[in-house]
Amino acid sequence: MHLFHHKKELVSHLENQRGQNLTIGLVPTMGALHTGHLSLVKRALSENEVVVVSIFVNPTQFDKKDDLEKYPRSLEKDIELLKKVSDKIVVFAPTVEEIYDNDVKSQSYEFDGLDKVMEGEFRTGHFDGVGTIVELLLKTVEPNKAYFGEKDFQQLQIIRKMVELKKLPYTIVGCPIEREPHGLAMSSRNERLSKPTREEAKFIFGTLQGAKAKFGTESATNIADWVKTAFNNHPLFDLEYFEIADEATLTPMLKKQENQKYRAFIAVYADGVRLIDNLRLN
Ligand code: PAF
Repeated sequence: MHLFHHKKELVSHLENQRGQNLTIGLVPTMGALHTGHLSLVKRALSENEVVVVSIFVNPTQFDKKDDLEKYPRSLEKDIELLKKVSDKIVVFAPTVEEIYDNDVKSQSYEFDGLDKVMEGEFRTGHFDGVGTIVELLLKTVEPNKAYFGEKDFQQLQIIRKMVELKKLPYTIVGCPIEREPHGLAMSSRNERLSKPTREEAKFIFGTLQGAKAKFGTESATNIADWVKTAFNNHPLFDLEYFEIADEATLTPMLKKQENQKYRAFIAVYADGVRLIDNLRLN
């Protein structure tokens, strides 16, 4: 296990590895690692000789100061977890100064409109922040492949779009959502839920499954109304959005088209914690 806090040392280590013709996988994370992250790391290890896991809570992708401050941080625990997975892992855990110097701000990106809906609508500047850090990590690590979870499906599509538009020579790999035993999508934010809320949060995935069951016979509007009513009647959760959208363009489905793939996307507040999830519908 190697641990680097500085770009320069990481780059020089990776140059050496590349010189030995070893392939490099990158798993960008914000730490507070859970089984979902570890599944990305294991996939990366199965496809590459060297795997870099970055652990960096990126300030520019948070639209709320409070959310950034409360984001769980557990570097030592994360490193212990990774050591148990493999000693081939290289951890890159920079400080904010190392990444941004004294200028903590995002670049502006063009994502072909993928950033204008859902998360982009509710979290101003979020995807510019994600684009900024992911582009920097890709250009620093120069991986053969980089791995991202489908829980943040919009983020995954946006990163694919950035790589395509900027003609970056990296393969982006999307990996399936890992769920807690009762169905809640794994997220570092789940740690901030009380035990009863975390248990009850199976309701979110249950609702997505309900939407999927209705998808064959009902319109998107009817399904969205059904979801809104279900959340209005629930004492613990506040629905921020529910959307059925085309997987490729992320535009809301108006009329079902043959050969198009659709997903249901949801964002919910529970105990003041924002949770997102999604499910392929066809
Ligand atoms: O998905 C995340 O954890 C973050 O958005 C990422 C990709 C590590 C960028 O900070």
